[in-house]
Parts: sequence; C-alpha cells; structure tokens
Amino acid sequence: MDTTLQATDSEALIPDPAAGSADPLKTSAAHARSAVLEELIRQDPGRFRVLTGDRPTGRLHLGHYFGTLHNRIRLQDLGVETYVIIADYQVLTDRDIADNLTEYVEELVLDYLAIGVDPARSTIFTHSAVPALNQLMLPFLSLVSVAELNRNPTVKDEIAHSRQSAVSGLMFTYPVHQAADILFCKANLVPVGQDQLPHLEITRAVARRFNDRYGHGGAVFPRPDALLSSAPLLLGMDGAKMSKSRGNAITLAADADETARLIKGAKTDSERFITYDPAARPEVSSLLLLAGLCQDRAPEQIASEIGSAGAAALKRTVTEAVNEYLAPIRARRTEYAQDRAYLRRVLREGNERANAVADATLAEVRTAMNSHY
Ligand code: TRP
Repeated sequence: MDTTLQATDSEALIPDPAAGSADPLKTSAAHARSAVLEELIRQDPGRFRVLTGDRPTGRLHLGHYFGTLHNRIRLQDLGVETYVIIADYQVLTDRDIADNLTEYVEELVLDYLAIGVDPARSTIFTHSAVPALNQLMLPFLSLVSVAELNRNPTVKDEIAHSRQSAVSGLMFTYPVHQAADILFCKANLVPVGQDQLPHLEITRAVARRFNDRYGHGGAVFPRPDALLSSAPLLLGMDGAKMSKSRGNAITLAADADETARLIKGAKTDSERFITYDPAARPEVSSLLLLAGLCQDRAPEQIASEIGSAGAAALKRTVTEAVNEYLAPIRARRTEYAQDRAYLRRVLREGNERANAVADATLAEVRTAMNSHY
C-alpha cells in the first residue's frame, strides 16, 4: 500500500519537483506534477478540494472553456468537492470602476450553469459577500515581502497592459488576496492556466509560512497544487491569444450565426494545402485544434481530411464542430437566462455556504494567532 496517500497535507502527497525553486514558472515541473495528481484524483477524489474562479469582466469564451472550465467540470463529475469564486474585488485591480458588475456576475453564473457546474455539488460565490475570506488577507500580507510581490511576472504583465494611469495597491497585493480565496476553504487543488502559476507559488508560500509561524507543529493550511490542463493554448480569430478584451474570442453565449461569421473572418495563411504545424502555421493549426477539441479527434486527422480543399473548407469544418459542440451548452444557457430568480438563489446559497466555511477558518486562524478574544 502506498503510505503517502495517508497524508492529510497535500504537501506530503508526493515529492514536489518545484519545491524551493526561486522560479515560479517551472512549467514543465508543474506539468509533470499534474500528471501524478491526475492519477491520485482518479484513485481517491474525496481527498481533494478544488477552488478556482474567474473575474467577472464579461462572458466566458472557448479559450477559457478548453483551458480550464472543462477541467473543472470533469473534476466535479469525478466527485471532487468544488468551490468556484467569482472574483469581483479582483476586477478592481486594473480599472477604476467596475461597470456593469451585477450583470457580469450574473452572466458568469449563467455560463457556469450552462457548462455543467452543479450548484448542489459546487459552491459558487463572490469575494464581496464573504467578509471572513477578505479578513484573511491581513495576516497573509504580513507573510510576504514587497520584493516577492514586485517579482510576480503575471502582475508585471498586467501592469504593462493596465488601463489605469497609476498602479493601485490592490494590483500589487491581489495575489495575496487570491491566496485567501484558495486557503479560506483549505483547497488543495487549483485547476488553472499557466499565467496563474506565480499566484499559486505565493499561495503555497503563505500556507507554509503561516503553518511554520502559527501552526504549533501542525498545519492549519494545506499547500495547494496547480492542476494544469493538457489542452494547448487556443488562439483568437486574429491569431493573437484569445481574450475578452481583444474582441477575437468566440464566447460560449454567441449564437451559431455569430460563430460562423467570426470563424469566416479568422486569419489563416497563404498556403492552400491544410496541415497541422503549430510552430510554422499557428493560425491554421489553432483552428484545427479547436475542431479537434470539439470533436475529440486529433487535429492531424482533421487536417488530412481537408488537405487541398483549403482554408474555406477548414473554416466550414471548424464552424460546424464548434456549433455542434456548443449547441447543448447554449440551449441550457438560454433556459437559465429566463430565470433570474434562480440565478440569484444559486449565488445567495453559494455565498451562505462560503461564509460558513470562511468563518470557521478565520476562527481557527485567530486561535492560532492568539487573537481570539
Ligand atoms: N486570477 C484569476 C483570473 O484572472 C481569477 C481568480 C481569482 C482565481 N481568485 C482565484 C483563480 C483563485 C484561481 C484561484 O482568471
């Protein structure tokens, strides 16, 4: 019998190839670790708790879907307890006013329900409704140095693309807030894209330092693992990374005609014969990959079927594959959209559950820190 499975702290589950590394972007180590974790999840889903989430800044798109959303549903359906945070405070990192916030939050809940997040098994909640979660940020901030915050490559990138004239304190510190998102419910598994790895590294450092300083020999917090999805990055219809703000994305909510129009306008290249070659032909290959993900087939096979029929045939194939794949998701979305009272109830009940968990964790933290009066 494998005794490592007896461990209660995810830290002790398996040796961590990236442990002690100064470089948070040890992507290949994270991939190797993800493969081991997949096996452990299959063996015993009950020992894992997932926390993941999104900023409510607009509708979710296919890049999100095949990047992380699909993975979340899979874990939920395998029996892993799941928390999904709608990170409304995080929206304020790079904009002054969170316009349309209520609408965006509801759109996100709709997207979640449509793709199969089941509120009976998964807790959907928002930052702003869970005070005890936010309070954890204070002791956590005391555990990280300004130099560490300054080094975070994802934050640096966001500052470079920020729409604000000055960088706010929240921009620098939101990775620590994100550590509170993950640790308030003692999640030990975080399915994310690669850009989130530096934040996970901070979360692991916060957990370890809290335990060292206040744990009295035990562990208050697990050290959560990132679970990277194996799906490669999808490009937007202009060949750049698919993103909400670039307007190059196919959203889950788009209808079949809009999807057809977007794919018709997609960038390809001047070579007629269709081949799958991500390095030399990124745009054509990303379209093949998208069709492949929708049809659960190898992109090479789709390429060989199209061959000399060229880009127009490729786009027809991709359009059909995407629209067929998304049809049931879109149908469910339309149905849920008609019941706003239900959406609000899902959120209210999720917030209640998250509050109960956060209150219990905060009580534990205050006891550990000798501040329970
Ligand atoms: N930073 C994530 C994003 O931009 C959203 C997020 C907030 C998150 N809190 C989280 C993701 C906790 C994983 C875990 O998409």
